[in-house]
Order: sequence, then C-alpha cells, then structure tokens
Amino acid sequence: MTIAGQDEPEFEPLKDFVRYSESEMTARSSAFLSNLKRRRTIRDYEEGAVPRPVLENCLRTASYAPSGANMQPWHFTVIEDSAVKHRIRVAAEEEEREFYETRAPAEWLKALAPLGTDADKSFLEHATLIAVFAERYGKLPDGTRVKHYYVQESVGIAVGFLIAALHHAGLATLTHTPSPMGFLTDICGRPENEKPYLLLVTGYPSSDCQVPVFGGTRRGMDEVVSWV
Ligand SMILES: Cc1cc2nc3c(=O)[nH]c(=O)nc-3n(C[C@H](O)[C@H](O)[C@H](O)COP(=O)(O)O)c2cc1C
Repeated sequence: MTIAGQDEPEFEPLKDFVRYSESEMTARSSAFLSNLKRRRTIRDYEEGAVPRPVLENCLRTASYAPSGANMQPWHFTVIEDSAVKHRIRVAAEEEEREFYETRAPAEWLKALAPLGTDADKSFLEHATLIAVFAERYGKLPDGTRVKHYYVQESVGIAVGFLIAALHHAGLATLTHTPSPMGFLTDICGRPENEKPYLLLVTGYPSSDCQVPVFGGTRRGMDEVVSWV
C-alpha cells in the first residue's frame, strides 16, 4: 500500500502545535529529562500480563513517529501467549549460547562483561514481548512492490517513541537483539518483505530486580554535544 502516493500535494492549516513560553518550555523539558533519566534496561520481570489499553496507546504513539517519505515501514507483533513466548525463549537461547560460546569476538564479550548478561533469557517467558519488524519494501494489494526509504532510521525512531511511551506509562523495557533473529519471522508468521528488527521486552520489574551500575553511566554533555 502506498501512503504518500498522491501526485498533487494537498495542504491544511496546522492545528495541533502548541506554543509555550520560554519558562514553560524549560520546565517541560526539565520534567521530561527527569522522567527519562529514570529509565533503565530491566532483565528481571514479574510474571504476568500488562494492561492491553496501555500497550495499545504506546504502540499508537510509536506509529506517530516520523518516517522516510511517510512510508511507516514498521510492524509490531505483541506476544502474550505463554506457548509462543516459550518458543521464542528456546530459539533465542539457542542463538545466544552459540554467540557467547563461539561466535562473539573477545572485544564484544569484554564490552558486555559489565552488564552481566549471558545466554539465559528467562525474562522472555515472564514479560510481554513486542517483536518489531522493519518492512524492507511495501506491497500493494495487487502484489506490486513499493520502495521504502530510510527504513532502519524510521523504525529506530519509532522504537525510541515506543520505549519512551512505555516508560512514561510505568512499564520497564529491555531492548533485546538476539543475533541472528530470523526465527521471529516464522514464530510470528510475518511475510518475507519484513525483517525482524528487535525484540522489545516489557513489564514490571521483579521485586528483587538489580541493574548494572555500568549501564546507568552517561557520557558527559561536553563529549556528546558540540555547539557551533
Ligand atoms: C540496539 C540495542 C540492542 C541491545 N541489545 C541488548 C541485548 O540483546 N541484550 C541485553 O541484555 N541488552 C541489550 N541492550 C540494552 C543495553 O545493554 C542497555 O541499553 C545499556 O547497557 C544501557 O543501560 P540502560 O538502558 O539501563 O541505560 C540493547 C540496547 C540497544 C539500544
């Protein structure tokens, strides 16, 4: 389906932009910073479902991300079924065992060491999973291919919206990237024009949840921002 497929562009007055005073903007940006500073990647979850209306709002938020030529090249599969989660855990752990035991270069393992991660992915059976797929190209109802632009960037931005929305709603997340993750295509029954992008794990942290100190460290503003 082509979304931005009109020859003659149509325009309408911008209705929804809100103009704040400078002090309001400072207060709002500061509050947003304080909230997002509390986000951490969580690897230990309480068992149980999260409210579907919350997930729906957050996924809708993700769908409002900007995208190259407005192609919206993403698909989100929410996995709540325990048998499907089990299949995903088994497949992911198989890849991860191989990764940690044979495939991972020493330098990568060294970078991961402070996070304390290993091939055990039990959280995949405790939390809710959102498999994110990137549409490499679109398809019209008659099967014609539609070119998509900046797919990686667009899906990455949508996932950023999603992580922020879930955190804002009161849910924790883990960005999980089993490598390779082709098994998600089969298990989620997705078409061949979609490529698994990542697996977002979400839910409530377990009561004894711990996080690596290292993961919370941030590079200084001087280092990551320059003003010209
Ligand atoms: C693209 C991407 C892939 C990631 N893949 C994994 C992963 O496969 N397993 C994992 O445990 N954490 C993964 N993470 C989480 C990072 O380890 C985590 O964000 C980082 O250590 C910083 O910690 P924080 O999110 O608590 O600030 C990933 C994060 C990103 C952005």
